[in-house]
Amino acid sequence: MASLNIASRTLARGVSRSCTRLNVARALSTSAQLNDAAASSGSYSSPFKGEPKSTKIPDFGHYLNKGSANTSLLFQYFMVGTMGAITAAGAKSTVQEFLKNMSASADVLAMAKVEVDLNAIPEGKNVIIKWRGKPVFIRHRTSEEIDEANKIDIASLRDPQADEDRVQKPEWLVMLGVCTHLGCVPIGEAGDYGGWFCPCHGSHYDISGRIRKGPAPLNLEVPTYEFPEEDKLVIG
Ligand code: FES
Repeated sequence: MASLNIASRTLARGVSRSCTRLNVARALSTSAQLNDAAASSGSYSSPFKGEPKSTKIPDFGHYLNKGSANTSLLFQYFMVGTMGAITAAGAKSTVQEFLKNMSASADVLAMAKVEVDLNAIPEGKNVIIKWRGKPVFIRHRTSEEIDEANKIDIASLRDPQADEDRVQKPEWLVMLGVCTHLGCVPIGEAGDYGGWFCPCHGSHYDISGRIRKGPAPLNLEVPTYEFPEEDKLVIG
């Protein structure tokens, strides 16, 4: 009897396992068939079908200008004008700063002036100094030379200029030592007029530095200078 019970239980377990395997195989087969059918038809069913759209455009009507079109234009013109003025002020400030940085500093400007002790130049003598890279002639003229410079008929000169218009003190003649023809440096106490002679092309200057003969078109240039003290000359 006992052996009959054990045999019936073993048989029941075997039948149960067979049924379970059969159900799993059927489920897999059904799922594969459904997928094949969807792929062959080319359609897809969204699981979110029927849901409301998530992209909503906000209403900006609250911010619209309620005034007339002219009011809006006036405001735009005002803004454009204001921005233009601010930009122009900024550009001006930038250019000013740039130019300030590029301009010569105070110490450089100070070096641009040359101070000369006039006691070191005897009467009737020339001195040549260098100022801003150019030679400057300083002549301590004698009274005879001053008379000679003044007795010339100005109308006969190529570059008419009175001697008194070329000097601050008659005894001190100060001028750039650069020939007005092509820029050579003339030689002092030379030439047909007792002044300066340019050997490059033969220009003759008189005792006032005025052109008298040769190709040079103008008198020797007189630089900016002053006498801060009786025996002191500052050029520049
Ligand atoms: S450069 Fe002096 S005469 Fe020509």
